[in-house]
Amino acid sequence: MKRPHVTVNCAMSADGKIALPTRAQMRISCDEDIKRMYRLRHQSDAVLVGVGTILTDDPKLTVKEQYVPHPKQPLRVVLDSKARTPAHAQVLNSVAKTLIITGSGKTKRFTGSHIEVVSCKTTKSGLLDLHQVVDLLWQRGVRSVLVEGGGTVIWECLHHQIVDDMYIYIGPYVIGGKHTPTVADGTGIKDEQHVIPLRLVTSKRLGPGVVLRYQPVR
Ligand SMILES: NC(=O)c1ccc[n+]([C@@H]2O[C@H](COP(=O)([O-])OP(=O)(O)OC[C@H]3O[C@@H](n4cnc5c(N)ncnc54)[C@H](OP(=O)(O)O)[C@@H]3O)[C@@H](O)[C@H]2O)c1
Repeated sequence: MKRPHVTVNCAMSADGKIALPTRAQMRISCDEDIKRMYRLRHQSDAVLVGVGTILTDDPKLTVKEQYVPHPKQPLRVVLDSKARTPAHAQVLNSVAKTLIITGSGKTKRFTGSHIEVVSCKTTKSGLLDLHQVVDLLWQRGVRSVLVEGGGTVIWECLHHQIVDDMYIYIGPYVIGGKHTPTVADGTGIKDEQHVIPLRLVTSKRLGPGVVLRYQPVR
């Protein structure tokens, strides 16, 4: 089955955390990394997050002109099986198109022709079927997707083997906390034989941190 090229991008602390222990957003990226992230968004047909990120961070998910001249705004995609995206969420602003993917039978009306709500089947876990999600995006002409989080979505994408590339920026901080969100949350692997192997493609110093590019080994 054909599917878009899927890239994960995330910023974490030296101890693997991606937010504060309260789950509130923390700026881990340096200016250079923010610029790299906006360039990745600009190059992608779609940028995808889970509703958890919408509810905690309220991101716009657009490309800022100060970082990329004449930006191309990717389609913003939210995985939202229970239709929890608030009507006032910034991801619904009219700067770019937004696609909210809900579970079957769950829908919500939003104002504006730039917002579309479609449904897709859920798996036993109650989460959206990611193979159907990428198929649905492919059918809409999306050839590249940038997955920006959070930890549940990144884990599920890796677990379902739909990731082609993964960029991790490591900022020089320790955040700590047993329940602090990490790059890959979700259920995790059952035992060692289910580990997800990665190949380190590049590593580069960026500002005070480092950016690693990995590719899953299949
Ligand atoms: N540092 C960074 O780069 C970065 C980037 C983004 C976010 N974050 C942080 O990450 C945290 C949010 O992460 P999170 O894990 O709570 O939320 P999330 O991964 O953004 O969203 C997870 C939610 O998405 C919905 N979903 C539907 N289908 C799914 C599927 N197939 N796979 C995964 N999720 C699916 C589920 O909610 P329903 O059951 O309601 O559908 C699920 O609970 C925040 O603390 C935020 O600040 C950090």
